[in-house]
Amino acid sequence: MITITRLSDKLAFGVRILGVDEAALEDPAVRARLVQAFDEHGLIVFADVEPCNRLQVALSRVFGELKDHPVQAVDLVDPDFMPGAIKITSDPSYADIVEIDGKPYSSWLPWHFDHCYNNELNRAGVLRVVEGTPNGGQTCFMDGIALYDRFPRELLARIEGCSIIYSLDMQPDHIRFGRPDNFRVLQVDPKQGEILEQAKSYPRAIHPAVWTRPGGEKVLHLSPWMAEGIEGQENAAGDALLQEVAGEIIRLCEAGAYVHDWRPTDMLIWDNWRVLHRVTGCTPPHPRSIYRTTIRGDYGLGRFEHDDKGRYKVLERTV
Ligand SMILES: [Fe+2]
Repeated sequence: MITITRLSDKLAFGVRILGVDEAALEDPAVRARLVQAFDEHGLIVFADVEPCNRLQVALSRVFGELKDHPVQAVDLVDPDFMPGAIKITSDPSYADIVEIDGKPYSSWLPWHFDHCYNNELNRAGVLRVVEGTPNGGQTCFMDGIALYDRFPRELLARIEGCSIIYSLDMQPDHIRFGRPDNFRVLQVDPKQGEILEQAKSYPRAIHPAVWTRPGGEKVLHLSPWMAEGIEGQENAAGDALLQEVAGEIIRLCEAGAYVHDWRPTDMLIWDNWRVLHRVTGCTPPHPRSIYRTTIRGDYGLGRFEHDDKGRYKVLERTV
């Protein structure tokens, strides 16, 4: 009923699957095959599907239960029928706009994994574009297993045993590591203020830079976006190391990524324990809107930062 092909001969990850509809998803064999493909390949593009909320929920539930988003400022699609599903809209009339090399971009996001600022790391996200852009707006993905394999060994040896600290600060101007050259922020979404309000009482989170899957594959899983430093090395030397690592991650991601050009009939799932992603910017004034469901799960290696008394250490910052 379904066909599975590799996204590209040049990529060691990702498959495209045809033939998914609600009837197919009721077949236990199909569901098992989808879960197996997800676990093996880390990224699945479901092409030529019916672009509707109902199918997005049914497809998402093949991979686990849906969960609510930990950020309170997000917009929900329809809490009664799409639990936890969020509407990620970037409308250049008010949303973040950045400038890179003199060109303005809306919808731009740097390389990251989702929920790095949280202790629990969601299993996956399922995306569908409901309003695309005439240029840019592609979602790019890179596999952390491939990153680990390709990473310069000397630099890898210096970061492999480290844990990375992340904060709930998504402001584009706050990018500390891997900030693009010739980068400046032209406009900040008012939602960033709401997120920072939550960040005031939200502890920082810590995740290992490298972890090992049950099958033995090592994953370099480090989000340059929202990274604050290396645990125990929040000093000039540690920051310099993280800057060098972030730069190399971005270079390898750009060289080896799968770049997804969205069609309205696409849905897509990626393994958030393994795959990094980013969004290429769009030239304003075109809005872009995506619906995302979040699949519950946890790899068990993330934690919130605690002080000596075992309580959360809370950020002190001004909005
Ligand atoms: Fe994301």
